[in-house]
Amino acid sequence: MCGIFAYMNYRVPRTRKEIFETLVRGLQRLEYRGYDSAGVAIDGNNNEDKERHIRLVKKRGKVQALDQELYNQDSMDLGVEFETHFGIAHTRWATHGAPSAVNSHPQRSDKGNEFVVIHNGIITNYKDLKKFLESKGYEFESETDTETIAKLIKYVFDNREVEDISFSTLVERVIQQLEGAFALVFKSIHYPGEAVATRRGSPLLIGVRSEHKLSTEQVPVLYTTRNIENVNNIRKPRVQRLDSSTCLHAVGNKAVEFFFASDASAIIEHTNRVIFLEDDDIAAAADGKLSIHRVKRAASDDPSRAIQTLQMELQQIMKGNFSAFMQKEIFEQPESVFNTMRGRVNFETSQVLLGGLKAHLKEIRRCRRLILIGCGTSYHAAVATRQVLEELTELPVMVELASDFLDRNTPVFRDDVCFFISQSGETADTLLALRYCKDRGALTVGVTNTVGSSISRETDCGVHINAGPEVGVASTKAYTSQFISLVMFGLMMSEDRVSLQDRRREIIRGLQSLPELIKEVLSLDQKIHDLALELYTQRSLLVMGRGYNYATCLEGALKIKEITYMHSEGILAGELKHGPLALIDKQMPIIMVIMKDPCFAKCQNALQQITARQGRPIILCSKDDTESSKFAYKMIELPPTVDCLQGILSVIPLQLLSFHLAVLRGYDVDFPRNLAKSVTVE
Ligand code: F6R
Repeated sequence: MCGIFAYMNYRVPRTRKEIFETLVRGLQRLEYRGYDSAGVAIDGNNNEDKERHIRLVKKRGKVQALDQELYNQDSMDLGVEFETHFGIAHTRWATHGAPSAVNSHPQRSDKGNEFVVIHNGIITNYKDLKKFLESKGYEFESETDTETIAKLIKYVFDNREVEDISFSTLVERVIQQLEGAFALVFKSIHYPGEAVATRRGSPLLIGVRSEHKLSTEQVPVLYTTRNIENVNNIRKPRVQRLDSSTCLHAVGNKAVEFFFASDASAIIEHTNRVIFLEDDDIAAAADGKLSIHRVKRAASDDPSRAIQTLQMELQQIMKGNFSAFMQKEIFEQPESVFNTMRGRVNFETSQVLLGGLKAHLKEIRRCRRLILIGCGTSYHAAVATRQVLEELTELPVMVELASDFLDRNTPVFRDDVCFFISQSGETADTLLALRYCKDRGALTVGVTNTVGSSISRETDCGVHINAGPEVGVASTKAYTSQFISLVMFGLMMSEDRVSLQDRRREIIRGLQSLPELIKEVLSLDQKIHDLALELYTQRSLLVMGRGYNYATCLEGALKIKEITYMHSEGILAGELKHGPLALIDKQMPIIMVIMKDPCFAKCQNALQQITARQGRPIILCSKDDTESSKFAYKMIELPPTVDCLQGILSVIPLQLLSFHLAVLRGYDVDFPRNLAKSVTVE
């Protein structure tokens, strides 16, 4: 939901062209977060006074359109060299205001571009702030909530009581007035060569690159004790005193570069050394130094931010030989599911250990119920594993869509254990549900794919699914790894249940053979492509099943609708007679997922009802199934595995089918219209 990227080079000479290339590449890595418009703010052309003038270039459309626009601009001297420069860039997923150049970021304080800002998130009180600022004579040009921030910082600056107010103090005063979620990076003509970045609820990290030794591995946090003030009530600010011990810099005042980004994928090609900002941190970079300050809230506030080394490889976020990230990620599943299990499942002893949950296991075993909460695909992973979790934990398991859970003010108790399942770890609804459960004293468990994400940091404990970066907007490998993580949790919980040992061993053997079986399913790609050739002109596609495979139907239908724009519905076969049967005729394409599990006989029933209405079902079934074939219009035969793991194999043909349908229909698989990868707004 919008991607932020900013780049500061200090004593590292860079031409304007090189700066553009860095900014554009950063945006391209983040484009999956939003791709309806993009923009940059850079220093002006004038060599004598280049820091004092800010140029804005913004364009509706994908980052590529901005890239072309940058080179089309009049008087853009690409060869001009900047020893020190700070550029900010943004790719947008529209929330307030249609995609257009004026609504895209950076947003500015005024026509002179005195302050410019890029924003990821949503400001919920922007209407009040806008009204206030308009009453003070500030004129707005866009429909965005973000413009309020740009105007507000100018207002605070215009009304400062001391001449030498620092840039970061201005930002501190601005964020005291903001409600909602944000990651922000500011640039100003009043503070040439300075950058200020901050966040609350939306992710932001800073990469550091220098060939020289860095002054510290822990950036100390400077605390102020100022109370929250009203924007009208400007008191004399306390000017921060920085000295070398409170800053990060390259020792000896040497060359250093800082990269600010919404996620690590935009930084990793430059450096693997990063600092994850915490909510309300204000990071300021100037003269090659980076400092972090914040208003002190609790005695326990962490006194420093560690520079962490990212484990991610550039290779992981490149498409390689695949035509789309989604396709690459589907084909990565033999490795990604293995990585999810690696070091956690002992196939010899049938022991499962999730290190992040170990300390809380006793408490979890004593709980009243498990509540699994997520959105979209992550919610489907909860649906897929509910039954096996009920079986292995012998606890009531509720599965909840985060938005609905919040809408209902669902009762939550101190002895509940709440799981927050999220690939990105940043989804606003899931994050809000997490805070809701925390406030009510429940134990909170994160199941995420993103180290350092808000959900992984705010939960009491958790499981990292280790699927590797997922770039395609349509989630694929994260689903199968979430699925496995939840199954592993069930296995860990049931370790000492004598009556469950045979079942546990069966499931663990099933887990062990999954990577090979997934490869076998992936080898059906050509057959699925041929099926797509038959289906791609259709308007609708129903996907029906029940029991362990109901989640496969929901997830398959979601994949189909989100990237092919066909109408698709996941239908519980048990509900067939209660309505959906009316849709069935010779024309309606329908896929049935029928596996050799306890629901097999009931699925055969549903199959006969379909064929009795001239339906022509395409059946996803086990390759040892001789019954379903009698009624099938087409069959996709899958290797059999343990019933509760079959959903991992049965979803893959639907991932592949949605991919081929979208390509045949001429759509951009990785950038489905109106969607974004990380939904950081409610
Ligand atoms: C669908 C998809 C979305 C996400 C949902 C939650 O392919 O990707 O439905 O699953 O937006 O996102 P996370 O898992 O990041 O919380």
